Amino acid sequence: MKTIFSGIQPSGTITLGNYIGALKQFVELQDDYNCYFCIVDEHAITVQQDRLELRKNIRSLAALYVAVGLDPSKATLFIQSEVPAHAQAGWMLQCVAYIGELERMTQFKDKSAGKEAVSAGLLTYPPLMAADILLYGTDIVPVGEDQKQHLELTRDLAERFNKKYNDIFTVPEVRIPKEGARVMSLQDPTKKMSKSDPNNKAFITLLDDPKQIEKKIKSAVTDSDGIVKYDKENKPGVSNLLSIYSALEGIPIADLEKQFEGKGYGDFKQAVADVIIQNLAPVQARYNELIDSEELDRILDEGAEKARRTAGKTLRKMENAMGLGRKQK
Ligand code: TYM
Repeated sequence: MKTIFSGIQPSGTITLGNYIGALKQFVELQDDYNCYFCIVDEHAITVQQDRLELRKNIRSLAALYVAVGLDPSKATLFIQSEVPAHAQAGWMLQCVAYIGELERMTQFKDKSAGKEAVSAGLLTYPPLMAADILLYGTDIVPVGEDQKQHLELTRDLAERFNKKYNDIFTVPEVRIPKEGARVMSLQDPTKKMSKSDPNNKAFITLLDDPKQIEKKIKSAVTDSDGIVKYDKENKPGVSNLLSIYSALEGIPIADLEKQFEGKGYGDFKQAVADVIIQNLAPVQARYNELIDSEELDRILDEGAEKARRTAGKTLRKMENAMGLGRKQK
């Protein structure tokens, strides 16, 4: 059975973009693959986090993993910092990566632009991500489009390590969804929807209540020609809402255009809001049952134990390949 690995940062309540781009794929894949889904808290501290907020967000993301339908008897769900092999392998892969290639990462350039104090972790973030993936012998990594460049670097690092040291890593493939690979901001539909956007009307979180969802969709930026039609260049706002609807309901965009022919943006936006609300209602109900439960701790304990076993084996192979420590372990 092929192996899947993916992760999400607990740096705030996750958005509809994370759901459509990543989580929804995870749920679809869990029946057919050996899956590891991680809460990457060590990635989150590349920018300073409030400690209590971070703890809250870690637990909240874990509850959301289960609430959206990930089944811990099928997929291994765990917290990155509870598996020390990630940071250890991350260090080794930093020693394989070149500064130049790390400085070329778009995300690094965006996050460090105009800042005086940029943490070294922001630069060395991609080798840690590569470690996450490579420790599990991962074949496929389901992510949204913004992670494609990091995946390419992961493949390069795996190949470089295999050639320079020992051929131990599987070189992973990326998997990006057909619809919703890049959900855009509701306020500036030329930018991606992001949980760190300072304007909270720009994104919908998985825990927003129906009233908030309706308000945010109603105030989403569109255009003035009043026709519900997909045209990313000229109508990015309407196109984004069509993509969201299509990804959530599995209805082709062409069918939606027909369905809303002759209808105004008011009706269209109401329909988009309703679809989001209907999709999130069962997730939020399950989330509320889980968030304070012992069941959630049990799931995370078991997940970390299983992940530690698998990751530990690869880590030992890496140490042997690089000659760390004393004798063959
Ligand atoms: P993060 O936490 O920013 O996002 C988690 C996942 O959500 C996807 N995503 C989106 N998809 C569509 N539209 C959007 N607007 C949108 N915003 C985010 C992301 O592509 C991602 O799949 N570096 C990663 C976390 C990570 C990881 C890994 C992922 C660490 N280690 C190993 C895969 C494998 C990140 O910052 O994702």
